[in-house]
Amino acid sequence: MSKAPNIVAAYSGTFDPVTLGHNDIIHRAARMFPRLIVAVGSNVAKNPRFSLEERVDLIRQVTADLGNVEVKGFSGLVVDFARENRVNVLVRGVRTVGDVDYEKQMAVMNRDLYPILDTVMLAPSPEYAHLSSSLVRELAALGAPVEKLVPQAVIAPLLARLGRPSA
Ligand code: COA
Repeated sequence: MSKAPNIVAAYSGTFDPVTLGHNDIIHRAARMFPRLIVAVGSNVAKNPRFSLEERVDLIRQVTADLGNVEVKGFSGLVVDFARENRVNVLVRGVRTVGDVDYEKQMAVMNRDLYPILDTVMLAPSPEYAHLSSSLVRELAALGAPVEKLVPQAVIAPLLARLGRPSA
């Protein structure tokens, strides 16, 4: 697929922590757009287990092999991040039918606030369709194996944060 040169895409989320599902979307979007920024929301309302700096750092490690991907933290509105970083496409992962209405509402709201910003929704691989960061944290805290849930670089920090010994 040829890539339109003026498109700057951003994939936004809290990524507490980044999962294999997020990683799947990042890799798909990186193939599709010439430049992709992973926009990590501080999202204090969610009371994240990892600090913003830690979440950014983990995604940088996971995306080190992708030359067209940058990772940046933000707080406030995603449209303000988009304006400041010349982003014109917002990437969102749509896992289930349940995600669609919510994502459509966000897409329309964001475009109302910043008319040049369109949202592209990507479906992750089916094996990640029911994954979320909070589910990962819950499974990890209860002793479930995490190798099939998060990228390699996330395993040790996740187990350490939850007080579990690394294998
Ligand atoms: N694989 C695995 N998990 C996924 C996923 C995928 N492909 N896509 C989504 N998820 C998970 C996320 O990890 C998250 O899990 P959690 O609730 O357990 O943390 C959940 O699905 C919801 O995802 P999402 O809707 O992307 O929420 P988020 O908290 O990750 O990110 C922001 C939300 C930061 C993008 C959003 O709050 C935002 O834009 N905030 C800025 C404020 C703003 O502009 N608001 C107005 C918007 S109109």
